[in-house]
Amino acid sequence: METLDHLIDHLMEQEWVQSQSYIPTGLAQQLAQEIQEFEATGRLHAATIGQGNEQHHNTTVRQTQIAWFDPEQLTPTQSQLHERLDAIRQHLNQTCFLSLVDFECHYAVYPPGAFYERHLDQFRGDARRTISFTLYLNENWEQEEGGALRLYLDNNQTVDVWPEMGTFSMFLSAKLEHEVLPTQRTRYAVVGWMKTRGSGVLR
Ligand code: OGA
Ligand code: MN
Repeated sequence: METLDHLIDHLMEQEWVQSQSYIPTGLAQQLAQEIQEFEATGRLHAATIGQGNEQHHNTTVRQTQIAWFDPEQLTPTQSQLHERLDAIRQHLNQTCFLSLVDFECHYAVYPPGAFYERHLDQFRGDARRTISFTLYLNENWEQEEGGALRLYLDNNQTVDVWPEMGTFSMFLSAKLEHEVLPTQRTRYAVVGWMKTRGSGVLR
């Protein structure tokens, strides 16, 4: 298994990282089963963009359906993921002098045809989102099916992360613009953010 040190070194050097092994495949498969149960039982709702007054549904940009993890009522499967994520959060605090106080995450389902235009994860006037992360829950993804997470690095370089079962990625929320390319196939993921306390500093 990839060590946390290795993962975090890469994140800090490159501003992003992906790992096929940090999250055990068995756990990803359990999450995949659960997100499909949520979908089948109507526990997902349309995602919005922005925050507070700026929050709106924008169906031309996002057809995504989501369900937030409720920290008070995690399912046993969600708890297992939470433990792994919290280990990362604590390690980042210890080794990188960050003060990440908590994280938030949700299940996300992109139906065929859905995408998410190029954007930054920090909301205007709110710098709390510090580390973005994704965990993909799709068996045998083919590149022809689209749906890559495209990260825009420095010097106009891009890198594509494919949404294959168990692939876990992290990137710096304030720095990397990114998009989800149109998907041909229903695309399942967990997406979230590690946050600092912050008080809504304007940029
Ligand atoms: C987001 C996002 C990426 C992905 O929800 O803000 O960028 O791969 N998601 O689902
Ligand atoms: Mn994003």
